[in-house]
Amino acid sequence: MISHSYLSELFSLDGRVAVVTGGSSGIGRAITGALAQAGASVVIVARKEPELTATVGELTADGCRAAWVSADLSSRDGVRAAAEQAAEAFGEPDILVNSAGVNLRPPMGELGEEVWDATMALNLEAPYLLGQRFGPGMAERGFGRIIHITSQQAHRAFVQSGAYGVSKGALESLARSQAEAWSPHGVTCNTLVPGFVMTPLNARLSSDPEKVAALAARTMVGRNGLPEDFAGAAVFLASRASSFVTGQAIFVDGGFSVH
Ligand SMILES: NC(=O)c1ccc[n+]([C@@H]2O[C@H](COP(=O)([O-])OP(=O)(O)OC[C@H]3O[C@@H](n4cnc5c(N)ncnc54)[C@H](OP(=O)(O)O)[C@@H]3O)[C@@H](O)[C@H]2O)c1
Repeated sequence: MISHSYLSELFSLDGRVAVVTGGSSGIGRAITGALAQAGASVVIVARKEPELTATVGELTADGCRAAWVSADLSSRDGVRAAAEQAAEAFGEPDILVNSAGVNLRPPMGELGEEVWDATMALNLEAPYLLGQRFGPGMAERGFGRIIHITSQQAHRAFVQSGAYGVSKGALESLARSQAEAWSPHGVTCNTLVPGFVMTPLNARLSSDPEKVAALAARTMVGRNGLPEDFAGAAVFLASRASSFVTGQAIFVDGGFSVH
């Protein structure tokens, strides 16, 4: 079929290796499934083994190639060790997705150094260190894709953005710095910007039906996001099709940001 080979030429990830942090839950889990179904061998990195093994079990049962690394990405040593282990599974990655994140948002006046450090370590430093570990190799090989997951708070402050908003704003700047460095060598670096997506990350907010409905009303589509909403955008950004898209923040938010 002509359309199949055309689509495959644009979007297939056959032969690619992807590393997805936070790939065992929520948005990262959906992106992992999408990249694997599109042909990539995927290594997921997170802390909890039961969720990691369950995810890899589901993917392999579907005929996908997947492996897991259990690591705490909130320390520099943890990130370095995780990166080495991740590269052992299927080789050096062509695609890096940074989805692991922490969402601690005390009122600004009560924001202590511990919360600041924990937020910056996982949300900003881990993506930076993983980029330093894998980006140059991607550039040397002439193909690479780095995808970060940021937030509405990267663009505007609301509901106590605190350190979280700062980390996500900086992550978008990191994508631009990485794009500047490596795009000439075939490595694009972009961010996906969610609206409100019901996942374990925001369990407390998700349990308040009034707030959930109010957030849905702020979108144009009329509903909150689902992890599956990120599948198409992630495959696009990971594929050959997006080779001229770099340094960008792509909003997958049902129009939340423009309503
Ligand atoms: N949900 C939303 O509405 C929303 C909105 C805007 C942005 N985002 C961003 O989207 C990304 C994914 O969020 P999500 O909602 O999908 O969250 P989630 O369902 O809670 O998933 C978070 C993932 O990160 C892993 N993780 C957390 N801390 C870690 C650590 N220290 N080391 C290694 N892995 C760790 C978790 O696994 P373990 O617990 O096993 O480690 C899990 O796999 C985050 O960066 C978040 O800031 C989400």
